[in-house]
Amino acid sequence: MKLVKLIANLGYGSRKDVTQLFRSGRITDAEGEVLYADDVVPYETIRVDDEPLDPPPGLTLMMNKPLGVTCSRKDPGRVVYDLLPPRYRVRTPALSTVGRLDRDTSGLLLFTDDGALLHRIISPKASVTKVYEATLAQELRGDEGELFASGTLLLESETEPLAPARLDVLGPRHARLGVTEGRYHQVRRMFAAAGNHVETLQRVSVGGLPLGALPAGEWRVLDAADVAMIFRNG
Ligand code: URA
Repeated sequence: MKLVKLIANLGYGSRKDVTQLFRSGRITDAEGEVLYADDVVPYETIRVDDEPLDPPPGLTLMMNKPLGVTCSRKDPGRVVYDLLPPRYRVRTPALSTVGRLDRDTSGLLLFTDDGALLHRIISPKASVTKVYEATLAQELRGDEGELFASGTLLLESETEPLAPARLDVLGPRHARLGVTEGRYHQVRRMFAAAGNHVETLQRVSVGGLPLGALPAGEWRVLDAADVAMIFRNG
């Protein structure tokens, strides 16, 4: 791919803007030698204003989504893309969230520009377990684990029962729930079906990839080993 297109696709501007960056000598190699639009050089040697280029396509990252931000590109309030570098919102191929978390859910949110990978993670066939920790308005009754594991739980206004899910009780009003599907408000609706109400909800892992110690609002690029962990069900 021609350098102008490659750099424009990363969100540095239109092709016209990037051509202008070349003309003004702001695109160089690692030694500071000015590059020209027709040059063919290794990706990792390219600098814009002395900074390395953003990661190439095939970008996957994880964020610790804070409460109060929406998983959408445009919303009147704060959106998850506001927490990333502005260029990441306008890259081609687009960087999309892998499924969504509610505005009032925090925790591990993945983004990728790799459509096939996204599909592999969210496809029910892949059975990637998403684990959530919930605090509840009421004490657990004791029968929720069996209900969630039954494979027969039907959520309100749905016709297909939920796949079996695993509940671990952490305290009287505190539980960890692992689900393999990604239905709308699934965890909140599951606890509602058990006569309870979710007060706080955090996703702590996707497959074998844990949220870990990443602070709220922070993100990091995933390498191939991290991505492989997603498919190693934890
Ligand atoms: N289930 C929910 O209810 N909310 C989320 O954000 C994710 C799963």
